[in-house]
Amino acid sequence: MHLSSMLLFLCVGAFMKCAAGSEWCYTGCDHTPSHWGDVSSFCLDKRQSPIDIATGYVKTDPNLHNFTFVNFTSKHVIKSITNNGHTVKCKLEENAVEVSGGGLNATYSALQFHFHWGDTEHHPGSEHTINRHRYPMEMHIVSLKKDLTLPEATGDSEGIAVLGFFINATEDGDTSEPWTTLTSYLTNITGVGTEVNITHAISINDLIKDVDLTKFYRYLGSLTTPDCNEAVVWTVFQEPININKNLIQLFPEKTTLSNVYRPTQNLNTRQVYASPATPLTPGHSWCYDDHCSYSPSYWHVLPQSHCGGEHQSPINIDTETAMEDESLDDFTFTKFDDKHAIKYIINTGHAVKCVLKEDTVEVSGGGLAHVYSTLQFHFHWGSHDSDGSEHTVDSKRYPMEMHIVSKRKDLTLKQALQTPDGLAVLGFFIQATDSTKSDGGSQDQETNPPSQPASDMDAWKKLTSYLSAIKNISSQVNVTEEISIDDLLGAVSRDAFYRYSGSLTTPSCNEVVVWTVFRESIKVDENLDYQHLLTMGNR
Ligand SMILES: *[C@@H]1O[C@H](CO)[C@@H](O)[C@H](O)[C@H]1NC(C)=O
Ligand SMILES: *[C@@H]1O[C@H](CO)[C@@H](O)[C@H](O)[C@H]1NC(C)=O
Ligand SMILES: *[C@@H]1O[C@H](CO)[C@@H](O)[C@H](O)[C@H]1NC(C)=O
Ligand SMILES: *[C@@H]1O[C@H](CO)[C@@H](O)[C@H](O)[C@H]1NC(C)=O
Ligand SMILES: *[C@@H]1O[C@H](CO)[C@@H](O)[C@H](O)[C@H]1NC(C)=O
Ligand SMILES: *[C@@H]1O[C@H](CO)[C@@H](O)[C@H](O)[C@H]1NC(C)=O
Ligand SMILES: [Zn+2]
Ligand SMILES: [Zn+2]
Repeated sequence: MHLSSMLLFLCVGAFMKCAAGSEWCYTGCDHTPSHWGDVSSFCLDKRQSPIDIATGYVKTDPNLHNFTFVNFTSKHVIKSITNNGHTVKCKLEENAVEVSGGGLNATYSALQFHFHWGDTEHHPGSEHTINRHRYPMEMHIVSLKKDLTLPEATGDSEGIAVLGFFINATEDGDTSEPWTTLTSYLTNITGVGTEVNITHAISINDLIKDVDLTKFYRYLGSLTTPDCNEAVVWTVFQEPININKNLIQLFPEKTTLSNVYRPTQNLNTRQVYASPATPLTPGHSWCYDDHCSYSPSYWHVLPQSHCGGEHQSPINIDTETAMEDESLDDFTFTKFDDKHAIKYIINTGHAVKCVLKEDTVEVSGGGLAHVYSTLQFHFHWGSHDSDGSEHTVDSKRYPMEMHIVSKRKDLTLKQALQTPDGLAVLGFFIQATDSTKSDGGSQDQETNPPSQPASDMDAWKKLTSYLSAIKNISSQVNVTEEISIDDLLGAVSRDAFYRYSGSLTTPSCNEVVVWTVFRESIKVDENLDYQHLLTMGNR
């Protein structure tokens, strides 16, 4: 959002700050968005806007009641339209238009609205994105807390309220009258600095049209142009304004300004809220394939994500460079033989997980500095024609991998997720006894001694018999069959293992895991009905 004309005014009094070279732009000057920090250090702070709104992480806030708008229906408050070199801005009559309610703590007086857009090649240009989707345009209605001056408002953490509306492009002939009228003025402001009065009768409501004003997101952020002051209470409405694509094209075409939007900024520790009427997609907004908004290469943009960190898992274990560590003594496994320790089995939408009874199963020793309480185990797999273990050993991938996840007994899960050795995960590769499908060359002989006997097939059969009951995402069934973790692991050697410090392998990828990856793989019967997993897709 822009307050440029006011900033210009401020510059007269603070000439040094506006000296040549400190001018900012979106493209084609020294101070493009990644260099706005040189123009104002606020642009580097932790509460910046715009952001990506990942709806799976948004929380409903019952205090986000209906807004009260004053003079949004008035046909005469939109006074002028100007091209300031960064955007197209419409000035409102002073002290006439007001916004309150909607969870705002004060009444705000609207000054202006302006736009962000992409380019003539149908490149979208909204500032906020929803689950990484960028709309063609975004409109910002900017208001100051009533009775505050601009410097006072920019210094108040809630001094400015901005209402953001997405603008969506429709193909059909809907060229709404108010938008046709407003955009007809674009031909009069092709030059930077030009301003013309609006003489037509258009209200703000005419432009907002039928957007449901009870559905909105709320977070605390900043101005999206230098000085990036962290003074903005943001409201981003969920429903877009639909206008004809030809009208949207007029913005880049007539002004010759293109891609006038700031890239999304890190949410950091902030939470985005939604009004009660806003529909939120439940749960799973990330996935392993590219059929969702957040495939693995975008996990790092998810709220509170550590997926872009330096100590991420899984890894390839290079046996040549692995060093022997004397401190890696024998493990102690407590209640791994308990045949009633598994409470239920659930399809999380990302994995098949067996949740254990609380405070029953434990892991210690094995070089771990603490006693760990085992929470669950789950599986990673591939597809009919690809192996799906997460770790690889000397670049070899196994058909499946089992993860037994434990947290430090002396910590709550929340604490464990913030402590470098808060979790311990035991990783076991799984392959079929008849390993013709995945057996490699001599290397494989080393990492998988062929003498290894198969696991207790009975236990695996019992476990996999539950899979057909949890084909639907989020479905779960209680495990009543007698199955112990020892039964599933069988005779696999628990003495030979690799150790490194890493992360959870799913968002939020917290770097809190002491990893143990066992050298020998669990051998299961190739006829085992774990084919059910394969029909669930790549995990
Ligand atoms: C909020 O507005 C909607 C639609 O305008 C209305 O149906 C609802 O009753 C209002 N809620 C409150 C609490 O006033
Ligand atoms: C609405 O705007 C008009 C000017 O267009 C002004 O006279 C009137 O006071 C405003 N209404 C309110 C409630 O502020
Ligand atoms: C309203 O005030 C409370 C208490 O100071 C604050 O926590 C909250 O963030 C404010 N909300 C908005 C939208 O400014
Ligand atoms: C945006 O417009 C397209 C047509 O161009 C339409 O298919 C889509 O449903 C619209 N999106 C929303 C959220 O209204
Ligand atoms: C806008 O430009 C058109 C065509 O050049 C002209 O007829 C019209 O008077 C101008 N309008 C304003 C408000 O300057
Ligand atoms: C899975 O979902 C479908 C449709 O929602 C339902 O008909 C079916 O009973 C569910 N199956 C199980 C095993 O829950
Ligand atoms: Zn803006
Ligand atoms: Zn895992």
